Amino acid sequence: MFKKLFITLFVAIFFTTSFIANASEEVNVYSYRQPFLVEPLFSQFTENTGIKVNVVFAKKGMAERLAREGKYSPADILLTTDISRLIELRDKDLVQPVNSSILSNSIPKQYQAQDNTWFALTTRVRNIYSAKRLGKLDLNYEDLADEKYKGRICTRSGKHPYNVALVASMISEHGETYTLDWLKKVKNNLARKPQGSDRGQVQAIHQKLCDISLGNSYYFGKMLKDEKQKTWADEVYINFPNQKNRGAHINISGVAMAKYAPNAKNAQALMEFLVSKPAQALYAQTNMEYPVREGVAVSKLVASWGSYKADALPLEDIAKNRKTALKLLDQAQFDL
Ligand SMILES: [Fe+2]
Repeated sequence: MFKKLFITLFVAIFFTTSFIANASEEVNVYSYRQPFLVEPLFSQFTENTGIKVNVVFAKKGMAERLAREGKYSPADILLTTDISRLIELRDKDLVQPVNSSILSNSIPKQYQAQDNTWFALTTRVRNIYSAKRLGKLDLNYEDLADEKYKGRICTRSGKHPYNVALVASMISEHGETYTLDWLKKVKNNLARKPQGSDRGQVQAIHQKLCDISLGNSYYFGKMLKDEKQKTWADEVYINFPNQKNRGAHINISGVAMAKYAPNAKNAQALMEFLVSKPAQALYAQTNMEYPVREGVAVSKLVASWGSYKADALPLEDIAKNRKTALKLLDQAQFDL
């Protein structure tokens, strides 16, 4: 296993060194997003422009790697999910602003940085899934604290970025005192200790371990397209919370330009391509996310879940409450 790791490491180092050789017609990407999703986009970009896209895929450690490489980093573009990861890159001074009217005009204001250091490419809803056996429900996130759901709610770790962002949005809406109380009550309603993935909670509903769970929107599509998981998904409704008030909590996947991007011009061209209508349509079809650009159709399956109202709060405001959210999750002993 270690041998394999070393070979991978060597290949990665060799790969990054080879990046630098032909800087002018290339662009180098560090990506947390998976190959099946971004490779079709990059092929299209290369076909359009002749610029070669080199990608390093990773599951973690992007900020650490960029910090270690410093001004010798070959990275031009950073692709990731979740607002907190983008903010982390900015807080650690690993990115630079990109002043592009194409980017700033194509993306709604609440989904881009005020200082142009990050831009959303897709959005996803934090949904509430509920067992069909309960009938149709009209739920707010606030309702998860209701006593009638005692022992009936399942979720992954409160500290997972998806849930931290949701808690941060609750702080933005209601303040700290309310949110701490809400967290304690939701914890009291849990059927089991927070664990597993968003999809694992729908499986738990299928197993009748609980009736209600939290999960991102695209997982519903992924489960429906999986032979085994379809039986779980068929037993739940996907609910868009808070439709009669502020709207459902939204998170994003996004892009930033690395601070020392050696191919900044090509990098900007790629970023602008990623918000173009064809690229946005491809994102929507492949991963069943919502295109960040207005007027681009979602996939047929996603469209069948209906339209919804999104919380209009700028994601930067939610990001500001991230640390407080983590503190409250500790105080509520949410994961214990
Ligand atoms: Fe996910």
